[in-house]
Amino acid sequence: MNLKSFIHVSKQSFRSNRYLIMKNTALITGASSGIGKELARIHASKGGALILVARRIDLLENLKEELVVKYNVPVHLIQKDLSVVGSSHEVYDEVKQNGWEVDYLFNNAGFGGKGAFLDRDLESDVEMVRLNVMALLKLTHLFGKDMKTRGIGKILQTASTAGFLPGPYQNTYFATKAFVVSHTQGLAHELKGTGVTVTALCPGPVETEFAQVAGFGGSQMFDGAASAYQTALKGYKAMEKGKVICITAFKFTFLIKGILPFMPAKITAAIIAKMQQS
Ligand SMILES: NC(=O)c1ccc[n+]([C@@H]2O[C@H](COP(=O)([O-])OP(=O)(O)OC[C@H]3O[C@@H](n4cnc5c(N)ncnc54)[C@H](OP(=O)(O)O)[C@@H]3O)[C@@H](O)[C@H]2O)c1
Repeated sequence: MNLKSFIHVSKQSFRSNRYLIMKNTALITGASSGIGKELARIHASKGGALILVARRIDLLENLKEELVVKYNVPVHLIQKDLSVVGSSHEVYDEVKQNGWEVDYLFNNAGFGGKGAFLDRDLESDVEMVRLNVMALLKLTHLFGKDMKTRGIGKILQTASTAGFLPGPYQNTYFATKAFVVSHTQGLAHELKGTGVTVTALCPGPVETEFAQVAGFGGSQMFDGAASAYQTALKGYKAMEKGKVICITAFKFTFLIKGILPFMPAKITAAIIAKMQQS
């Protein structure tokens, strides 16, 4: 091999970075934007390997390039629509076939949708449940089982403050997040003493593509939204500590723990309805 081809092969290996050792490996769903992208950056900054999952492969490629150059960590990409039946098992199979072990699972991919339940396109809400609930449930079961066998592992589920509230005019989304909160709380109890922890990250409005995708572009609800980086960092730290619930803003902690338990559900629903339509 002459010098020119040696340099070419080295460049190729660097780009594919398949020769780097996978350690402290995190699998992050919804890593192509918003909170998931920031979780990837934070994990890479700690020297951890990454398996990034989303549909938009071009965005994942850009992130991979950034992280490889900046942190020299192994980054593998899986292009997958997780709302498709069978997709979670395909992700798991790909990870196993490559001999990778997932130490951190970030179940983060999700989307919302504005509108009265009966007026919304049913298929869109079904897709939302498949992604926000079913994919999360399956990936947690598949990778959580392996973690429990090894006696070590951490899972962060991106839920929402919506998970504590009734959600008129974004009803299915709120219900999916209520599932994530409840499932995380129960699972955290079952996992005690196993070496595996599970944390629900519960942010209020965050500045990401979420609002646009959910049909809230220009809504007052997202005025003063938190940054994706700060939200991801709080979630990451809570996960490291093994906290069960991480509500990222004090005002929401106060609302959820200090006010909601004393408020009739009908009034809460009326307030939320007004906010969704602002
Ligand atoms: N932003 C907020 O105000 C807020 C508040 C509370 C909770 N959350 C939650 O935070 C999580 C991350 O959302 P975000 O705010 O960061 O929004 P975002 O910028 O829209 O990111 C959503 C991510 O999910 C991925 N995704 C969407 N549909 C997918 C599918 N069918 N298969 C695979 N990946 C899919 C997207 O990637 P591709 O499009 O490339 O597939 C993207 O990477 C969600 O679970 C959301 O519910 C957000």
